[in-house]
Amino acid sequence: MGMDRRSFLRKTLAAGAVAMGAGTLMGACSGVKRSDLMPSKGSTEKVPGLNEEGAAILHYASLAPSSHNAQPWTVKVIREAEWIIGTDPQRRLPAVDPENRETLLSMGAFMENLTIAAAAMGFETHAEVLAKSPFEEDVIKVSLRKAKAVDYPLRRLEMRMTAKDGFLSKEIQSDDVRVLSAPLKDRLFYFPRGSEHATCIQEGAVVYFKIQSDRDRAQRELAEWIRFSNQDARKHRDGLTTEGMGITGFAGWYVRHFMDKDDVMKESFRNQGVEKVAKQAAEGGGWFVITSTGKGVPDLIDTGRRFERMALMARERHIAIHPMTQWLEEKEGQEKIAENHPPGAIPQFVLRVGYLDGYPEPVSLRRPVSWFVRT
Ligand SMILES: Cc1cc2nc3c(=O)[nH]c(=O)nc-3n(C[C@H](O)[C@H](O)[C@H](O)COP(=O)(O)O)c2cc1C
Repeated sequence: MGMDRRSFLRKTLAAGAVAMGAGTLMGACSGVKRSDLMPSKGSTEKVPGLNEEGAAILHYASLAPSSHNAQPWTVKVIREAEWIIGTDPQRRLPAVDPENRETLLSMGAFMENLTIAAAAMGFETHAEVLAKSPFEEDVIKVSLRKAKAVDYPLRRLEMRMTAKDGFLSKEIQSDDVRVLSAPLKDRLFYFPRGSEHATCIQEGAVVYFKIQSDRDRAQRELAEWIRFSNQDARKHRDGLTTEGMGITGFAGWYVRHFMDKDDVMKESFRNQGVEKVAKQAAEGGGWFVITSTGKGVPDLIDTGRRFERMALMARERHIAIHPMTQWLEEKEGQEKIAENHPPGAIPQFVLRVGYLDGYPEPVSLRRPVSWFVRT
């Protein structure tokens, strides 16, 4: 950030305060968040080729988490209740996810939301994994059949979010671990804060984040997914917004008005990222590691589904779940993991967990259903 920007900022603030009054100025201080763009209850969108229920089911599916909020999903409508769920090659993250592993985990989360929403609306989902390799664009064939509606609070799908700040240091209670690990059976491992394993994971989370932020290619890719201005955020409705990154208030306002992709490549931006991650990694009640038994497409989809089933239960228990994935993205982290894990327990998620005093509202943006449906 150069001097000219800083003095411009001072002048703008002074002029703004006089011309607009403090209230208006504070209004300009908030970044676009989900509630600004989406109705709170389901989708009211009309989507060609789909009936109202189909559009609503896909809306709920799209509330799934995804790395960099890239929302890698596409839906080809074959018939009103028969779809091919696929991935968009433009939404891959080759610099940090060259094997498309995270894309497929995110697709699993999308499928889980889809299945839950369909069941709650009175449909049974039949899903067949089509993709034989991670880069095939057609991933899953889905057909819906009328069935008795299942009682499930869809509000859970709307309220799930990745909280990152303000984790308490209390250990996760065994009852909460039991409930959260139920969808993952013996594939979720909890390492309480302060344990040898937790300390090792914490240190690695920072070390591998730093290694990644020193990699220009990874940093350039990240820059492509940051939505700096509110205008950009509204236009794309994906990626990482200031609100989504937890940069609020004046800092958020500054980023939205004065920063762009080039800043992501600067030393100061990288250092601030490392500092922030070190602070986050030191907070919380420990770590969950989720493993899979295989590396194939069905394994990754299944693991993403189970992860999402777990994440959907976390809010009611006031537990935040924060993926810190650099361990699994950087070669050095992968090697260390390979040395310490048997081949049948492949780590797929490294999650920082912690109780929150107040759970924030979801802020990350989503594209409307019609943007990812192809008829
Ligand atoms: C496979 C996967 C990997 C992720 N890795 C990270 C990560 O390393 N750091 C992080 O802050 N968030 C990570 N996330 C969280 C996403 O950034 C988040 O889901 C997305 O921005 C949407 O926000 P939401 O979860 O609040 O809806 C990951 C999510 C998924 C599904």
